[in-house]
Amino acid sequence: MGEILDSHGDNRLDVHVGLTLDDVRPPSDEEILRVEDLTVEFPTDDGVVHAVRGVSYVLHQREVLGIVGESGSGKSVSSMAVMGLLPRTARISGRIFFRGEDVLALPQRRRRDLRGKKIAMVFQDPMTALNPVFTIGDQLAEAVLAHELMPRKQALGRAREMLDLVGIPQAEARLRAYPHEFSGGMRQRAMIAMAVINNPDVIIADEPTTALDVTVQAQILEKLIEVKDAVNAAIVLITHDLGVIAGMAHKVLVMYAGKPVEVADTDAIFYSPRMPYTAGLLGSMPSTDTTGHRLRPIKGAPPSLINLPSGCPFSPRCPLADEECVTREPDLALTDALDHRAACHHWPKMKAVEDPTVFFRAESEIQG
Ligand SMILES: Nc1ncnc2c1ncn2[C@@H]1O[C@H](COP(=O)(O)OP(=O)(O)O)[C@@H](O)[C@H]1O
Ligand code: SF4
Ligand SMILES: [Mg+2]
Repeated sequence: MGEILDSHGDNRLDVHVGLTLDDVRPPSDEEILRVEDLTVEFPTDDGVVHAVRGVSYVLHQREVLGIVGESGSGKSVSSMAVMGLLPRTARISGRIFFRGEDVLALPQRRRRDLRGKKIAMVFQDPMTALNPVFTIGDQLAEAVLAHELMPRKQALGRAREMLDLVGIPQAEARLRAYPHEFSGGMRQRAMIAMAVINNPDVIIADEPTTALDVTVQAQILEKLIEVKDAVNAAIVLITHDLGVIAGMAHKVLVMYAGKPVEVADTDAIFYSPRMPYTAGLLGSMPSTDTTGHRLRPIKGAPPSLINLPSGCPFSPRCPLADEECVTREPDLALTDALDHRAACHHWPKMKAVEDPTVFFRAESEIQG
């Protein structure tokens, strides 16, 4: 069986180059998911971890929301709360509505029903989600049969269609393959197939391409966009890398220390950020223009979520921080544009400069 399964690299699997959200149907105004003031805490021996501190968003049909932030900012925990996959020790408050239904108030059985069928997840590492001892076909069929009564043969038929949909050639033969016989990119495609096999309304993709090389990353993201349109699903796309969001998300929620610190349309995030942290993230992206600006990581590290500093949690790293910043934490508030919110006392200073990443450049760079 090796011939079909082993020899092909990912590069020859996909013919779509440069697909973006502009090429697919726009979101409708049908509200699918609403998260209101979600808070998650973990009591531990060292103290209470304030992992998520008031996340709110609304997701419409076919809409893609990007959630961006450094590692440890609460991106995964907030999504696991939506999926109902947090450990029992987690203290959750706030509200989560799926198609108007209050998810946190549902009985366990109904929540299990939602999970995997209506809200599906694509994880960073497919090997943690795929079982090494079962074939891809068996696992895809199982995902169907967990939610729907049908003959196994029919479920396998659906599995084959899904492998086709995600661009895995010779799907029939590959149903009989085991996860380790797939390359990294193919495994991630199989995960996407598994996520969409029950026609979900929401796909949560948590760093779905982080482990893959750049070419394969682009192919997988394009496939995700194509697939969401095919099944009419909305996507929550989680990443630590702002570059992944460009062209792929309609709107973006930037997280820092468990809190949303900027929420806006993707263009506004890239071209007119109002929160210094977002500008710092932009400045740390590899430059695609010819100015030769290098990758410039934001100095310092995010604060402990057990002992948060007083005031703005970004203040120890923020080039604009002043007295007010260290005494009072800013609310996420409207800025100068409709639907553009930022948690910063000094957002007008960001508006006043042409290139907000300038605050994060060294003195020498600015003069030179
Ligand atoms: N089960 C848990 N118990 C205690 N702390 C946790 C648990 N799960 C996550 N955390 C903490 O919550 C914070 C947010 O984590 P996470 O959402 O995974 O970050 P991200 O996905 O943004 O990298 C981190 O500080 C992490 O250590
Ligand atoms: S509130 Fe102050 S410290 Fe926080 S991001 Fe704004 S300027 Fe920086
Ligand atoms: Mg994570």
